[in-house]
Amino acid sequence: MTNFAIWFAIALAFVAVVILRAAPTRTIPDPKGNRLQPPAVTGGSIIGLLHTLCTKGLRAMVRDQYTKLGSVFTVSFVGLKDYFAKWGQQGKVNLKKELDHLLMLISGRCLLGKEVREKMFEEVFMLFYELTDNGMRLSSVLFPYAPLPANRRRDTVRAKLSAIFTEIVRSRKSSGRTEDDVLQNLIDSKYGDGRSTTEAEVIGLIISLLFAGKHTSTIASTWTGAYLLSNPSYLTAAVEEQKQLVRKYSGYLDYGFFHEMDVLHRCIKEALRVHPPVPWFSRKVHKNFTVRTKEGQEYEIPRGHTIVSPVLFNSYLPHIYKDPDVYDPDRFGPGRQEDKAGGKFSYTAFSGGRHACIGESYAYMQIKVIWSHLLRNFELKLETPFPETNWNKIVPEPKGEVTVSYKRRLLPIQ
Ligand SMILES: *[C@@H]1O[C@H](CO)[C@@H](O)[C@H](O)[C@H]1NC(C)=O
Repeated sequence: MTNFAIWFAIALAFVAVVILRAAPTRTIPDPKGNRLQPPAVTGGSIIGLLHTLCTKGLRAMVRDQYTKLGSVFTVSFVGLKDYFAKWGQQGKVNLKKELDHLLMLISGRCLLGKEVREKMFEEVFMLFYELTDNGMRLSSVLFPYAPLPANRRRDTVRAKLSAIFTEIVRSRKSSGRTEDDVLQNLIDSKYGDGRSTTEAEVIGLIISLLFAGKHTSTIASTWTGAYLLSNPSYLTAAVEEQKQLVRKYSGYLDYGFFHEMDVLHRCIKEALRVHPPVPWFSRKVHKNFTVRTKEGQEYEIPRGHTIVSPVLFNSYLPHIYKDPDVYDPDRFGPGRQEDKAGGKFSYTAFSGGRHACIGESYAYMQIKVIWSHLLRNFELKLETPFPETNWNKIVPEPKGEVTVSYKRRLLPIQ
């Protein structure tokens, strides 16, 4: 278990370095003068913004949009609308499956590129689903090389995914064609000593990124939905916030619109506290240091050891979080701010310090885009009992189907 955690932490740190290096250094010309009509973010839609967010970071994304469009711009929801357009006027869906599919589409755009999106989406989706389903079991994590059926399946689908991605990388290289996606950034990246990334490294990194950026968000957005639909008061508050913001932005849903969704933000944040996607983090100790407990006991931590921060446990500390078992997004609200009051590392759903998750803004943004759309356009009801946790998975997920019935709102809030 610890080995996996170490490997995972190292993989994430490595990913962070490559992405940062890969981000092209580009001089941004001064934005042009004032514009009267707010231009629209066309074509690429919000999914395109997410791509910039993912490859270049939040500031760069806002700056890019500002440079291109001026200080006011609108965002088109083409991709998302298309996706939910296939839902009928009313019906029932397995929310977990729907969100999994949708998040794969987003990742497909941001990470994998158009080859996957256009030609082999279903195949890659199924293979990745099987990879996480078989490879994320505790049995596979504890005994990765044991001759278990799940391990065999994991290795088979990993090989198939590799073959697909290898083909894409080779075809891009041989044709000299480049695309605007993370895969391309990884292909073009160079190490400090000038060496290029190898095919195997690119493929390993893209699969880790897919795991870090999609699998965790699928589960976090499903938990968020399950809590919202089981707590009428928070659901009402979140819908009310959508109404207010749509009024405020007169239907032009720009970046600020998503930035102001405090209620929804807290609902997601609280779902992540109660169900942290990564249940613990580990760090290798490079220098001796001492820690002091709340009770005043001091410990010397020697270098060379690996320390583990059990997020799953830390998120429930009663001296930080009042009634920790209760889903209560308001604990992060004005006047309470329990995470801040409890000290710098009270809230570690995205880890902390130098190797904190680089995808935090990306995660919040994609979950807000999805859930705000659902809240504005559908009346939703949870049909199955509140899901239990499947603890057999390394990213503990809602067990079984999460069935939701939906009805299109007669007057969509937008
Ligand atoms: C670090 O801790 C170890 C074990 O307690 C000790 O042997 C070593 O001398 C310490 N190193 C430093 C630089 O203090």
